[in-house]
Amino acid sequence: MNDVIDFIHTNRDRYVEELKQFLAIPSISAMPEHKDDVRRCAEWAAAEMARVGLENVRVIDTAGHPLVYADWLHAEGAPTALFYGHYDVQPVDPLDLWKTPPFEAAVRDGDIYARGACDDKGQVFVHFKAIEAHMKKTGRLPINMKVILEGEEEVGSENLGPYVREHAGELAADMVLISDTEMFDRGVPSLCYGLRGLAYMQIDLRGTKGDLHSGQYGGAVANPANVMGHLIAQLKDKSGTIKIPGFYDDVRELREEERAEFKRLPFDEKAVKKHLGAPRFAGERSYSLLERMWARPTLDVNGLLSGWTGEGAKTVIPAVAMAKVSMRLVPNQHPDKIAELFEAYVKKIAPKTVELKVTRLHGAFPWMTDFDNVYVQAAGRALEKGFGKRPVFTREGGSIPVVADFQAALNVPVVLFGFGLPDDNLHAPNEKFNLDNF
Ligand code: BES
Ligand code: ZN
Repeated sequence: MNDVIDFIHTNRDRYVEELKQFLAIPSISAMPEHKDDVRRCAEWAAAEMARVGLENVRVIDTAGHPLVYADWLHAEGAPTALFYGHYDVQPVDPLDLWKTPPFEAAVRDGDIYARGACDDKGQVFVHFKAIEAHMKKTGRLPINMKVILEGEEEVGSENLGPYVREHAGELAADMVLISDTEMFDRGVPSLCYGLRGLAYMQIDLRGTKGDLHSGQYGGAVANPANVMGHLIAQLKDKSGTIKIPGFYDDVRELREEERAEFKRLPFDEKAVKKHLGAPRFAGERSYSLLERMWARPTLDVNGLLSGWTGEGAKTVIPAVAMAKVSMRLVPNQHPDKIAELFEAYVKKIAPKTVELKVTRLHGAFPWMTDFDNVYVQAAGRALEKGFGKRPVFTREGGSIPVVADFQAALNVPVVLFGFGLPDDNLHAPNEKFNLDNF
């Protein structure tokens, strides 16, 4: 084992250079114009998986972006881990806020900056290099490994869920290992035992066939931008309570022990507020901040579009307005049921003066696991060895749609073994990954 660790230390600079190549491919799954880049990235990952010594490497076509699979299954009698990660990344806008270009990775002060540095290419690369070090120094892996990567995590994992269900035999393992979450804080190794789910909706309103002069027709027809504002205002009250009837019916309250555990975590509210640049925190006052971020459902507008947004003024009544609204879900909320409740409520409150269209964009189940299984315990020991500290147990407010699919289809524990930091700027400009964590 010491040989393996020495190998890792001596090769650190090469690893960073190779990671830069992975980060240079703009594999933005949400943008059709990057479709070929996403495939190129899958092929790059496949070649890398072969280079580090994995076998049976395949790029698997789906109705969307490809999956990549590889394995190494010669550790007779040892358990099998299925490692999952994603090689797709989020869009990069607003581009002008990046200090260095998002697809030209740059190292500054011990961090590597690029889109995907943390979410999730850097964290996937951690495992590739661990595999390589074992293979180079010992010619084998201590356990059996199957690796599956996808290129659609950031757009809802629509094709991986069905693939996992249809190929449960081929993917069978004793545990699933994922590094796509955060550590609680710098130097605080963490194991995540819960993720929120998601129901993502789009509202489209049309008032008239085309834009109108607001002086000529103002007062006679509905303005979809005003109507949208009014609709959104009715989704939540001032104290943060969501007003969709039935929304909270299936919410499982936190157990008292869990609430006590949350309180024990070293959470510095003032520092977080400063880091975020928020004048004040908002939301449900009767729940702590961590509980609000990890264990309470939310409803947020993710995007709004209507009317004149260029410089200066234009007197116009816009013909259309659009809003993207997503809800983070907690156990035991069901994404389809929440989407239905949302749609019914919006239809009920929308005035007849506009045409309304509600579209479901995607969903994910919330997920939670016990942590008293041997694999979580083993992951905890590994973190303790690496960081010299026992890990804390955390939940996360984000979603990884396929986790619930793995648990349901393979019926084995999922270990979320994440190395991101809360200030790694996921989905934002200047995403980074800490090289010590790497
Ligand atoms: N790595 C994140 C999930 C995450 C975010 C975990 C923050 C812990 C903290 C993942 O890549 C992600 O962004 N997932 C999406 C899924 C969605 C598009 C269905 C998310 O949470 O928005
Ligand atoms: Zn992400």
